[in-house]
Amino acid sequence: MNAVGSAEGKMVGPPLWLLAELTYRCPLHCVFCSNPLDYARHGNELSTAEWRRVLSEGRAMGAVQLGLSGGEPLLRDDLEEIVAHAHGLGFYVNLITSGIGLTESRARALKEAGLDHIQLSFQDSTRELNDFLSSTRSFDLKAKVAGIIKGLGYPMVLNCVMHRYNLPHVGRIIAMAEAMGADFLELANTQYYGWAWLNREALMPTREDLVHAEAIVDDHRARLAGRMKILWVSPDYQDARPKACMNGWGAVFLLVAPDGAALPCHSARVLPGLDIPFVQDRSLSEIWYESSTFNLYRGSAWLSDTCRSCDQHTHDFGGCRCQAYLITGAADATDPVCPKSPDRPLVDSLIARAGGSSSIVAQPLKFVPNLARQLALVYRT
Ligand code: FES
Repeated sequence: MNAVGSAEGKMVGPPLWLLAELTYRCPLHCVFCSNPLDYARHGNELSTAEWRRVLSEGRAMGAVQLGLSGGEPLLRDDLEEIVAHAHGLGFYVNLITSGIGLTESRARALKEAGLDHIQLSFQDSTRELNDFLSSTRSFDLKAKVAGIIKGLGYPMVLNCVMHRYNLPHVGRIIAMAEAMGADFLELANTQYYGWAWLNREALMPTREDLVHAEAIVDDHRARLAGRMKILWVSPDYQDARPKACMNGWGAVFLLVAPDGAALPCHSARVLPGLDIPFVQDRSLSEIWYESSTFNLYRGSAWLSDTCRSCDQHTHDFGGCRCQAYLITGAADATDPVCPKSPDRPLVDSLIARAGGSSSIVAQPLKFVPNLARQLALVYRT
């Protein structure tokens, strides 16, 4: 394994997990979209040649796993070429998709190009809620795409973002994944960044909702052992400890956004004062090992006294910087989810506001606008 650079004298390993967000364009308009709120402002998409160079550099550094996501990566008509290049480099290549646009011939072409794995998202097990939350009629298409993926022999992960509206359906979502032949089901409790941060009061479940749903998950997990794995992503704010976000800042994860911004996590753009590096200007290796952004919260020198004196910081790496900033206004604050944080009452008050009206129509949800057409104008290959 390559290992150069250092954080407090410890060698920094390579980015093992490279996420290429190929485009912010998407046919869906989900209320928990992870695109930045101002995503239409973020310039031209990288060209095919630029993506090829980025992937080659990442693999040369030692990256082994590649996620191709967005937005909707199927909107890139050079996706097959990018997959073939990544496969040739020796990456394990995973497509993270809504499924919209994945015809049988395209799924076959991607397989021939070397795609290893597909993660298909659903918003719910019911057509009504799925289509409402994504603001598109997409449920029937997704169900068809699940059949195409299985028919071609791909390993399939079904992913469903969980929140107060679909947690009561968790048993039905598991049954749907089982009926579709999923190998893996990721029940991803909503992470409150981007559009989900904007919609947090409407989406956040009560602690009772979560406890009830997790018990159902545990029952099914035991029943399905050996057939389908179920991952229950810990809910933001409601766990006893801060999450080990990204396994530590600049530790294993490197994201390249559609415009070439290189980021240590999905939402780092929200943090003030970051000098975000771009792959058009610097090599990936220079960005990873030497940029101020990737070194800012690497290691433990930056930790607050509260965190440095706590034996848990080697497990949670100081929690999540974006969460700390969004809730407290200070990116270097002790993660406010931690019971030792002086800002913990802010999290408690967010939780206390969860579980108001259970009626969807009573909630002021904010949907991602349809900017695909405008963005298409700046899309170049
Ligand atoms: Fe940015 Fe956790 S999402 S550090």
